[in-house]
Parts: sequence; structure tokens; C-alpha cells
Amino acid sequence: MPKLIGIEKVNIAVFISGTGTNLKNLIKFSQKEDSKFKVKLVISNKSSAKGISYAKKFKINKKIIDYQNTKNAEKTILNELDKNKIKLVCLAGFMKILTGNFIKKFRGKIINIHPSLLPKYKGLNTHQRALDNNEKYSGCTVHYVNSRLDAGKIILQKKVKIFKNDTSDKLSKRILNQEHYLYPRALKKVISNL
Ligand code: GRF
Repeated sequence: MPKLIGIEKVNIAVFISGTGTNLKNLIKFSQKEDSKFKVKLVISNKSSAKGISYAKKFKINKKIIDYQNTKNAEKTILNELDKNKIKLVCLAGFMKILTGNFIKKFRGKIINIHPSLLPKYKGLNTHQRALDNNEKYSGCTVHYVNSRLDAGKIILQKKVKIFKNDTSDKLSKRILNQEHYLYPRALKKVISNL
């Protein structure tokens, strides 16, 4: 692990498929003097993912993965993780499901952020489903990844109030803001237990 001013920083990889605001936020946090992690690698399954621009901007290693063949894709990813001495994988809007085989190789070292109060609203379209069910609250969850979708042990959660005139768009923006609060804190917790 790289030693920076007496602090051992944990190398993390962030996996994205889209906008990458959580990636950007984690990079920002990693630059704080007392941060315990360094974003060493960005993995994307999409060459068009907007978030890749942050890897370029902050000079972080990046790898676009061709996912036509999942087995080969995961082999390439594992090789990159090894090459970059990655200790922890952070999924942030990564739209591919990791296989049991991959998860086994990185057991307990993969975390994900999900835009609902798990175990409610696993999967996609969480905000609209919460609105349709007249929920009073939704929120976001950081959890460990296991082989069942959005079902691993919860690390931290943040509640967000749903308003009467809410739309999926408005709610998703407020939740995303809280994701940016939550993810670095969850990461800190995970690293303290490594
Ligand atoms: C977030 O809402 C996250 O919870 C979900 O995908 C979205 C990613 O947003 N898994 P961004 O790409 O980090 O902006």
C-alpha cells in the first residue's frame, strides 16, 4: 500500500457505467489529507460513460471492459485489480452483475451503493416504485455485495423524506446528494474493519 505522510492508504477501484458523480465525490474525498483511501483505478463497461472523464481529469488509471463475454471481461478486471494492487472494489452505478466466481475471489471486498432503503426496492426504477407505493421515506444504502442482487450486509443507510409533489426525478436528485454524503463514510467504516 502507498504510504503518504505516515498514513497507509488503501487502493480502491471504482466501477461505473454512467455519469460518475459518486466516483467524482470519492475522488474528492480521497484528496483530503486524512483520507484512508486512494482511487487507483476506474473500471467501466461503457466507453461512452461520462464518468470516465474524471479518471482522465485526475490522472487515474482507467480500463474500459468489453463485456461481450462475461468470463473474459471478469478475467480482465481481476487482472487489472491485481496489477493496481486494489484492496477494495466500490460499485457506483455499475450496470453489470458480477458473477459468483468473481465475488468469491474478492469476498467481503466489494461494496455497492443503491438508491433505496434496502431491503426495500432492490433492482432498478427504485424511485418510481417508492412513489407508487406512497412511501413516506426513501433513501440510499451502502452494502456489501454477495451473489444475490442488492442483498448483502448493510453498511450504512440514509433516509430521505418523500414530499407530496415529488417526482422520480426530484427524488432521485435529493437521494443522489445523500449518496455523496453516505458513500465516503461507509468506505471509512469498511476500511477501519479491513
Ligand atoms: C446512483 O443513484 C447509485 O445509487 C446507483 O446508480 C447511480 C449512479 O450515479 N447505483 P452516478 O453515476 O454515481 O452519478
